[in-house]
Amino acid sequence: MQLKDKAVLITGAAGEIGKAATKAFHDQGANLVLVDLNKDALEAMSAELGLEPDRSVVIAADVSKETEVQNFVASTKARFGKIDLFFNNAGAEGKTGPCYKLPLHNNYISNRKSF
Ligand SMILES: NC(=O)c1ccc[n+]([C@@H]2O[C@H](COP(=O)([O-])OP(=O)(O)OC[C@H]3O[C@@H](n4cnc5c(N)ncnc54)[C@H](O)[C@@H]3O)[C@@H](O)[C@H]2O)c1
Repeated sequence: MQLKDKAVLITGAAGEIGKAATKAFHDQGANLVLVDLNKDALEAMSAELGLEPDRSVVIAADVSKETEVQNFVASTKARFGKIDLFFNNAGAEGKTGPCYKLPLHNNYISNRKSF
């Protein structure tokens, strides 16, 4: 897929994977909407990577709140006229470690209602 001038929305953009993805998509010429709970971290990353204001926007939002998702999707369409690609990366690990040392129901599992 050619990414030049595509509109790419990345959630969890301020984290480790989000930052790597942001750099990769930016280097390929995409326009970026960067979403995270942490606006300070988004702005620091944007400055560090030298993201151009005409090609990127940062939005503080919580992807677990439907109205906030609707708002950043609408903002993206208003800004770039479309969304070509969602990089749905926001999230948090539960307790991690060697599986034989983990409790049967760690936070990750017990927080999922389907279990
Ligand atoms: N790093 C790994 O080895 C690994 C392995 C498997 C899965 N993952 C998943 O990949 C994703 C990114 O991992 P990472 O290592 O970059 O994590 P990270 O903690 O460095 O970054 C996650 C980012 O998501 C943001 N975030 C969390 N909840 C949010 C919410 N509700 N709304 C908006 N933003 C939110 C955080 O503020 C943070 O900036 C996560 O979903 C993680 O669970 C990571």
